[in-house]
Amino acid sequence: MLSGAQPTADSYHLGNYFGAFKQWVALQDEFEAFYFVPDLHAVTVEYDPALLRERTYVAAAQFLAAGVDPDRSALFVQSHVPEHAQLAWVLGGITGFGEASRMTQFKDKSVKGGQDLSSVGLFTYPILMAADILLYQADKVPVGEDQRQHVELTRNLAQRFNHRFGETFTVPEPHIVKATAKIYDLQDPTSKMSGSNQSHAGVVDLTDTPKQVAKKLRSAVTDSGTEIAFDPVAKPGISNLLSIYSALTGDPVETVVAEFEGRQYGHLKVALGDLLAEFVGAFGDRTRELLDDRGELDRILAQGATQAREVAATTLDLVYERSGFVRGIRP
Ligand code: TYM
Repeated sequence: MLSGAQPTADSYHLGNYFGAFKQWVALQDEFEAFYFVPDLHAVTVEYDPALLRERTYVAAAQFLAAGVDPDRSALFVQSHVPEHAQLAWVLGGITGFGEASRMTQFKDKSVKGGQDLSSVGLFTYPILMAADILLYQADKVPVGEDQRQHVELTRNLAQRFNHRFGETFTVPEPHIVKATAKIYDLQDPTSKMSGSNQSHAGVVDLTDTPKQVAKKLRSAVTDSGTEIAFDPVAKPGISNLLSIYSALTGDPVETVVAEFEGRQYGHLKVALGDLLAEFVGAFGDRTRELLDDRGELDRILAQGATQAREVAATTLDLVYERSGFVRGIRP
């Protein structure tokens, strides 16, 4: 199993946590897992090098704070494993231009940033993501709903390569947990929670202070009516809060709804605000502690990269062999 989350913001948010990290942690008992910080993906948009370096450390610390266990899972930084870029190049040769043009995330991002400002790297990004996954022969890729199309492309590329050059890649399945596949913005509960949303008032970051979190919850947009019910179409705001409450406590949504029966929206907002403030407070403490020891983080990432390279090099070797590259005496 393999997954990653881009280090393109100062912190991950609740959407990343529930959509991805929680699944990563649960699955590491069952699978041989590889979790990585995709720093090569982060250079496809304009960025600041010093900030990227810092965000990469914060990303690794937040993976660990979420419960990724480096003794069970390989935790590494993408640029430490050159095979990602090498395989991406080969896969680029079997990806159709039209096929890549259909990726909705590229379309969204290039509309936001302007077509001329969008880089070629942003366009070919899903091919690199396919390489990330296929290098590890992953069976499952735990992601949120917004990454489904990229995993679908990965499946197509794996099947195409296998068909043309012989069985080489495992065809991966996305692992998407429906209840938390899309956490919505607290101010605009019809858009997903995202670090690139214009206002940050509806995005709960994992580095927020308990006070900030409580405030964001108090001002969360709710719906007309007064009854607390789970109905994502008619009551997107309340349903989003119920989903988060359920994910955080582990109680099914129906139980949460029953718990709040006869009470008002405000009660749910305050109760969830308290729970989240406590959660984020503890998460922040753990992250800061990990960030205080960069030597230890470097050690964990080096160990992860060594484990990752062993698998990645074996796959790339097979791909080069199948691709017809000369495998004689190599430096
Ligand atoms: P990224 O960095 O945008 O997001 C990381 C993970 O968080 C999930 N996610 C959400 N889930 C629920 N609700 C939300 N509001 C929400 N926002 C984000 C994403 O679906 C994702 O699982 N291309 C990837 C990073 C990547 C990757 C990979 C992932 C690069 N290579 C290989 C898996 C395998 C991305 O941009 O995710």
